[in-house]
Amino acid sequence: MTFKKSSFPLIFTAILCFVIGLGLIILCFLFPSGNDYEDPDPENEIVNNDPQQPSVPDEGNGDKVEPGEALNPETPTEPSEPDVPDEPVDPQIPSEPDVPDEPSEGEKPFVSSKDDPLLVLANVDNPLPDDFEVGELELVQKNSQGTYKLDIRAASYAREMIADAEAEGISLFICSSYRARSLQQTLFDNKYNSYIANGWSADEAYAKTATIIAIPGTSEHQTALCMDIVTPSYRVLDSGYAETDAAKWLAANAYKYGFILRYPKDKQDITKIIFEPWHYRFVGVENAKLIYESGLCLEEYIETLK
Ligand code: DAL
Ligand code: ZN
Repeated sequence: MTFKKSSFPLIFTAILCFVIGLGLIILCFLFPSGNDYEDPDPENEIVNNDPQQPSVPDEGNGDKVEPGEALNPETPTEPSEPDVPDEPVDPQIPSEPDVPDEPSEGEKPFVSSKDDPLLVLANVDNPLPDDFEVGELELVQKNSQGTYKLDIRAASYAREMIADAEAEGISLFICSSYRARSLQQTLFDNKYNSYIANGWSADEAYAKTATIIAIPGTSEHQTALCMDIVTPSYRVLDSGYAETDAAKWLAANAYKYGFILRYPKDKQDITKIIFEPWHYRFVGVENAKLIYESGLCLEEYIETLK
């Protein structure tokens, strides 16, 4: 076969085209698709839906997530793994009831308030209103000396405290609880008259009496939220009572039942009442714990509150 010299360029071009075409075909076999080449791992396409391997960290690069995809309710999930979120959470979408921003009501820490009805303050500077009415009363203890009742909010705690002390061998004996104003007046007058009978002046007798028996209208016994507690072997209301096992048990445990030592030894300048290791006041378990741990008296504690 012979070629004319003038047909050489044509033959050369044909061979060149053939070689280039062959090269392209080989390249196509080696790299069938440009996109697939950039993502050699075909499983990457399902990584976002794999609950075992969330591709979106909790923080940092959330902008890599397509919000439409991430929040698509039709995105398949693994029902067998309900605890692991399939999709990142968008905090702006208020449709995640399982992840509350705030603790629920039951988990909120106790916050005391001046307005807490259990913190009603009755003292010489804060007399009860003239129209003060005591709440519903409930029996706490009936003993050889009388029948003693407290406000219904405090009674069950008092009964439980007395029972728990008894179980530990401590006998708690109530000698005073709720008092009507008229009874407070009688007690005050009796004490006052005893000083007068001993030669005290009226002013001195009144001032001294007021540190022991609250002036009628200012006694928290009228609120039915407190009680005087002694023990059968020691029924005298004096400072010696503080040395009894009953007084020691009360000092260490009463707060657990919502009761506080209302007139501590070192707070007389604030309470204006002598040390009364027998007088326990109900303020609720949370307040009592805070007061016990703080070492404050009720007046000081209320002062710290809003
Ligand atoms: N003994 C207390 C202060 C009262 O009479 O209320
Ligand atoms: Zn008392």
